[in-house]
Amino acid sequence: MSKVVKIKNKIGNFKKTITVTGDKSLSIRWVLFASLANGRSKAKNLLMSEDVLAAINAIKKLGIKVVTNKTECKIFGKGIDGYKYKNKLTINAKNSGTLARLILGLLVNSPEPINLIGDKSLSKRDFSRVSYPLSKFGAKFRLTKNNFLPLKILGSDKLKPIKYHEIRGSAQCKSAVIFAAMRTAGTTIIKAKKSRNHTELLCKYLRLPIIIKKNKNFDEIKIKKVTKINTLNYQIPSDISSSAFFIVLTALSKNSELLIKNVNINSSRIGVITILKKMGVKIFFKNQKIYKGEKKADIKIISAVNIKSINCPPQLNSGAIDEFLVIFLVAAKAKGVSYFTKLSELNQKESPRLKWAKKILTYLGVKTITTNDSIKIYGNPNLNLNSNKKIIIKNYLKDHRVFMTSLVAALSFGGKWTIHDKDSINTSFPTFLNIIEDLKKND
Ligand code: S3P
Repeated sequence: MSKVVKIKNKIGNFKKTITVTGDKSLSIRWVLFASLANGRSKAKNLLMSEDVLAAINAIKKLGIKVVTNKTECKIFGKGIDGYKYKNKLTINAKNSGTLARLILGLLVNSPEPINLIGDKSLSKRDFSRVSYPLSKFGAKFRLTKNNFLPLKILGSDKLKPIKYHEIRGSAQCKSAVIFAAMRTAGTTIIKAKKSRNHTELLCKYLRLPIIIKKNKNFDEIKIKKVTKINTLNYQIPSDISSSAFFIVLTALSKNSELLIKNVNINSSRIGVITILKKMGVKIFFKNQKIYKGEKKADIKIISAVNIKSINCPPQLNSGAIDEFLVIFLVAAKAKGVSYFTKLSELNQKESPRLKWAKKILTYLGVKTITTNDSIKIYGNPNLNLNSNKKIIIKNYLKDHRVFMTSLVAALSFGGKWTIHDKDSINTSFPTFLNIIEDLKKND
């Protein structure tokens, strides 16, 4: 099967209802919490992507039984101290920063050294951001000289609680510290810049000893040692980050309408909605519900007629951190100049995404000015590529979001696109191309 996708035509108008796959952040967290529970936990609509399979394989290596079939996944936890540590254990987090960083929090008491490895992209990402706070608990780390993977962690049986100030707005760092605190006698105190709060909500739902005080720009979290975790049956809602590609495709297509069913709309994740609404895109939440502390809804989107430029408030950054590449496509079609600042974290993702944004927008003929942490986009409401214009997207470290953004750009603005490494979608959204095919069908 060819790993290249060729797009020659814009997408026609569509009016459809779709369902995207399960939320990645919640799926990985469910696997990790269930691995610590006393007994069998079940999940439905678990995202069956490479990142989540890597999480399942990781807990299997730690001696936890997992049974999956087409409709559900069962994890047979053996309690908070139920992991079995073999000598010379290697855990492969593949492409998943979330798995790699969160699981380190759970390994702070490992009596044997454990190797953590990942793929080429993950091996270019910073791990000192988690090894530093986790070593304060008493765990020992060996990283490469760039603070990259592979790393080795050796836990301690004399863990000490810490005071930690999370300044990046990274949910991965915050969650790694919460997990380590769950293994540590005493109270760990975290002051964290706002970021997605699924770990805290799961702790609360499971009635673990966590107290959260919300302030305007940061949360104060106090967490004590956990002795028991109840089993957790969970129906994973759909992923807003995956939905974002279709939200933007609809906004940029003519005379189209889309309903995306049952999406997680946790307020720490909907930056993309807030930003696009400010730009004039019509988006509505329907049928809102609360599920185990998380909010979910169906999302309705209507083609945008006039797109306004935005001076994006940086407080929205962490709630939209995975969506900026597609948000920039909307800015490319806006009337006026859009400005996004304080985005240095974008270059810390699966690929240097601010650099890729500039590349893709330049291919589209859109002027940009970028720095290490900002981008100015000179929008063009009549953006439309000549059908002979050839664009090739490759060597992007197989960053799934670069692939999907390029595809949305091709279907929205035209041109002759060759987009390499289509299997990159398997890390987060294996059904992405099937849904695109469905939208292309006229029925
Ligand atoms: C995630 C946190 C974010 C996000 C990633 C998923 C999580 O990373 O980009 O895709 O599930 O905790 P950072 O914590 O590095 O911002």
